[in-house]
Amino acid sequence: MIHFLRTTNSKMFRGTALLRLDFNTKDDWRMRAVLPTIQLLLKTSEKIVIISHRGRPQGGKIVNGIPVGFEKSLNLKRDAESLSRLLGKKIIFIPHFRFVEIKKIITTAPRGSIFLLENLRFLKGEEKNDASLARQLSTCADFYVNDAFAVSHRANTSIVAITKILPSYAGLEFEKEIISLGKVMKAPHRPLIFVIGGAKAADKLGIIQYFKNKADWFLLGGGSANTMLRLRGYDIQKSIADNDAGDKKDFKKISKYKKVILPQDCVWKGDAIFDIGVKTAQQFSTIISDAKTIIWSGPVGMTEKRAYEHGSASVARAIIKNRSAFSIVGGGETVAFLKKHGLDKKFSFISTGGGAMLDFLAGKKLPGIEALKKK
Ligand code: 3PG
Repeated sequence: MIHFLRTTNSKMFRGTALLRLDFNTKDDWRMRAVLPTIQLLLKTSEKIVIISHRGRPQGGKIVNGIPVGFEKSLNLKRDAESLSRLLGKKIIFIPHFRFVEIKKIITTAPRGSIFLLENLRFLKGEEKNDASLARQLSTCADFYVNDAFAVSHRANTSIVAITKILPSYAGLEFEKEIISLGKVMKAPHRPLIFVIGGAKAADKLGIIQYFKNKADWFLLGGGSANTMLRLRGYDIQKSIADNDAGDKKDFKKISKYKKVILPQDCVWKGDAIFDIGVKTAQQFSTIISDAKTIIWSGPVGMTEKRAYEHGSASVARAIIKNRSAFSIVGGGETVAFLKKHGLDKKFSFISTGGGAMLDFLAGKKLPGIEALKKK
């Protein structure tokens, strides 16, 4: 049974909260989604210690508890500033991992203080579900709240191992996600269409396999499409694609499914595919216009660049135009793109999860959900 923050007696939350969030987007929309959880904890608890990750850091190391040599853009200092602006409250950013010192800083700070620790993925143990890192993290707080649904498909220390030590709860956004996504997938109305794009192709395999009989079409763009195009013998040159040999067999199988529709034309920049072409956008829009349930994860082009937004904008407009369909969209990049253009309001449900949303919909057991159940 999961203990939800919303329904648990607030007396349980009197000490310091270790709050796992997911700031892994370019803008602040995932942060905005969890503001109600922070505000609730500010009322019920003494202090809040926020932990998060950003990106997939490589190359740096930890010297005397201090991160050295990591990409600057993966540092969470800017997130502390953004969160402080959104909450109208000071956020104390802790740029190191000297846990004895951190504990002292927290203990001596006044009630109502909010801390943000540095990117947890700078620590080798985070992605290894490491018990000793979990013990170190647990010294910072009295109880743990997971409001990072978007990373709950990863068996990471701050998602799973930590729940073995501290009393653990699901945050408000986390609860909303599992209830809303759970309801939708019980009996989706047909035609059921998936639009699958983005860079992380391997994350999207499960959903195609799981829904291969229940869905009507899978419309592929981005890295997922490129990976399949290559398997069908198309020369994608230097386009983003999944190169993981471990997944090759599954990709190959999927690339043969008749329901998987790959781009018939593409927009190139130099030697890489940057967007689906006009004909493909038109074909995708026609299929979407007949759907009764639409699930979208991952932009079908490089939406970071205006010139390659056309495919994703066409998909978004087609979904919005189909008023009789139930539409779900998820994933950092996709939602950021929709929000940037004010297109997000018309979707039936917006999930903070990308891979997590797809795994959940595919009936997989998410390590983060299972871990909360055990407590
Ligand atoms: C996401 O943005 O989907 C989550 O933060 C998970 O990130 P990951 O795919 O790097 O684990």
